[in-house]
Amino acid sequence: MDTTIDPAISVRQLNKRFGALHVLKDIDLDVMPGEVLGIIGPSGSGKSTLIRCMNMLEAPSSGTLSFKGRPVGRRFRSAAGDIGTGELRRRVGMVFQHFNLFPHLTVLQNVTKGPVVVLKQSAAEAEATAMALLAEVGLESKRDEYPAHLSGGQKQRVAIARALAMKPDVLLLDEVTSALDPELVGEVLNVIRRLAENGMTMVLVTHEMAFAADTASRLIFMEAGRIAETGSPDEVLHNPKSERLRSFLSRFHA
Ligand SMILES: Nc1ncnc2c1ncn2[C@@H]1O[C@H](COP(=O)(O)OP(=O)(O)OP(=O)(O)O)[C@@H](O)[C@H]1O
Ligand SMILES: [Mg+2]
Repeated sequence: MDTTIDPAISVRQLNKRFGALHVLKDIDLDVMPGEVLGIIGPSGSGKSTLIRCMNMLEAPSSGTLSFKGRPVGRRFRSAAGDIGTGELRRRVGMVFQHFNLFPHLTVLQNVTKGPVVVLKQSAAEAEATAMALLAEVGLESKRDEYPAHLSGGQKQRVAIARALAMKPDVLLLDEVTSALDPELVGEVLNVIRRLAENGMTMVLVTHEMAFAADTASRLIFMEAGRIAETGSPDEVLHNPKSERLRSFLSRFHA
């Protein structure tokens, strides 16, 4: 019996350059199904660029990306043997630091739009799924509000519901709490924690070290475009090997 499990996402020797700027250097990384991978590191170290490469919002300059064992191609359409960027983006959802909800659509319409337009769900099916997801993030009562009338934490929870409505295999989260007022951070982290408990595969860039420590199954520390350290949250946060990681972490213990 073949017991090998394909990584949800596999990155090999990935490099990314913006002109002369070499932002990602020889990144090798597997994200296993059900894993919650946390990415920490200083500003400008390449964290956002790395997760944007994982769903081809940024095209790598070199190296390979695979999704469940299928190499990711450069075209929109999937072809024999590879997966196109269109299907990849459906299956690898993303939530950004700055909520990018559609301002002219209600909460419910924000969540149903992708499933109706892209997944070709009926309006009734999309609405039933959306209401279940809005209930999960505690926002059923806001279904007919427009984003401008929501708090930052509420907007971010709608953004998570919207990403989940596409039934992604993997969810990428880029500092989803860092634009929020401190008192709103907890409600968003609770949603993510529940997703983790339910087995959702996630890659999350975060500056919330305590959250990373109790939610992530593994942490990587990025430094100047490279994966400088990797290990369990306990190893990375409490037993850092390099001076750079020690100094990075010391900023959070002040
Ligand atoms: N589209 C772009 N064009 C040119 N340079 C870019 C682009 N996107 C990112 N960079 C540069 O790449 C480097 C890495 O940026 P990135 O956003 O990945 O860092 P980060 O680790 O996410 O930082 P932060 O913690 O501040 O979000 C930075 O020097 C940034 O200026
Ligand atoms: Mg970033």
